[in-house]
Amino acid sequence: MLQSLCLCVIRRNPTHEMVSSLTPIYKEVGTLIAHKLALKMRYSSISLYIIFAINTSIIMDINSSPYSLSNDTAYQHWREKKLLNFTSNINHLFVDIDNEIAPKASETNKLLALVNKYNMGLYRFKKPDSKPANNKHKVPQFAHFFGLNKLDNNLCADDDKLTSITVCKHEGQHQYIPYSDKRLSWHTDGYYNTPEQQINGFILHCERPALAGGESLVFDHELAYILLRDENPDYIRAFMQSDAMTIPANILNGKEIRAAQTGPVFSLHPTGALHMRYSARTRNIEWQQDSATLEAVEFLQQLWKNGSPYILRYTLQAHEGLICNNILHCRTGFEDSDDPQNKRLLYRGRYFDRIHA
Ligand SMILES: [Fe+2]
Repeated sequence: MLQSLCLCVIRRNPTHEMVSSLTPIYKEVGTLIAHKLALKMRYSSISLYIIFAINTSIIMDINSSPYSLSNDTAYQHWREKKLLNFTSNINHLFVDIDNEIAPKASETNKLLALVNKYNMGLYRFKKPDSKPANNKHKVPQFAHFFGLNKLDNNLCADDDKLTSITVCKHEGQHQYIPYSDKRLSWHTDGYYNTPEQQINGFILHCERPALAGGESLVFDHELAYILLRDENPDYIRAFMQSDAMTIPANILNGKEIRAAQTGPVFSLHPTGALHMRYSARTRNIEWQQDSATLEAVEFLQQLWKNGSPYILRYTLQAHEGLICNNILHCRTGFEDSDDPQNKRLLYRGRYFDRIHA
C-alpha cells in the first residue's frame, strides 16, 4: 500500500522540491504503518521487512538521484559516465535480429544494453516477410521482449494500436505533419497525453523508406538535460515546474477531440529515470511565461538550429527500426513514390512502458 502511495506521489509531483518535501512525511507514514502492521502480523515480520525495505529504497533513490538539483555530487558522477559512454558511430547502435518473434538472448541482451546506455538501440530484421501486413504483426511481438506491452491507442492508430506512418489524407489525419512528406520538428512522443498516460517507450519500424530523404535525427533526452543543466540549473528548475508547458485542446471541426494538457518538461518515472515531454513547435504550445522557462526553450531552439555533436542522424532502411525510451527525435522532409505500393511506410508503437528486461 505504501509503495502505491509513494508511486502516486512521484507521478503526481514531478519536481524534486515537491518530492523532497514529501519524503519525511512518507517516511513517517511508512514507519507508522510498519508499526501497526507489525502488531497485527506478528508472524509476518519477514515480509513486512521486505515491503518496508522496498518502500524505503524508493525514497532513498529520489534523494540520491543525479536529477536532484541539490545533489551535485551524484549529478557530476552520472554526467561524467554518460558523456564518456556516448558514441557518434551509428553502427555501434545496431543489432541484427535473426528471428524477430523469437530473438536470441544474446540479441535482446545486446539491444537492452544499448538502451541502458543510450536510451535507444537500432535493430535489423534479417529474415523479413514479403507481406508488409505480416511484418507489421511481428513488430509488437518483438517489442514485447523489451518490456513494451501497453500500447497507447492514439488518435491516428490502426485497429491493432500501431500507427502506419505514411503520406495520406484520411479524415482526422490530413492536418498532421507526421502523415505528410514535410519536415517534422523535434519532439518526444505523446507530449499532449495526460499525466497518467505519458509515453515512456516507442518502437519505429521501417517497412519502406522514401525515394529520398526522410532521415531521422535522434538525441538522447538525458544529454539534453546535461546541456541545459550545465548552461543554467535554473533551466532544469523551470522545466520541472508542473505547469511548464501547456498544449491547447485539439479542436477538429468545432469539436474538442482532446482536452488541453499542462505538465512539466522533465519529470521522474517511478523507477527514478528521467522522462521528457517536449515539442519544438512554435505554434500551439503555451510556455510558462517566466524568464528561466523562456530562456530554456530558446536554448533548445538554438541547439536545433546550430546542431550538436550529440545529435545522431540515420535514415531507416526497410526492416530496420528504432526502439527507445521516448528520446527526442525529428524527421527531415522526403520525396515519396507516386506508386501507392511503394510509398514510404513506417509502423510506430507508442507504449506507456519504459524498456526493461
Ligand atoms: Fe515522434
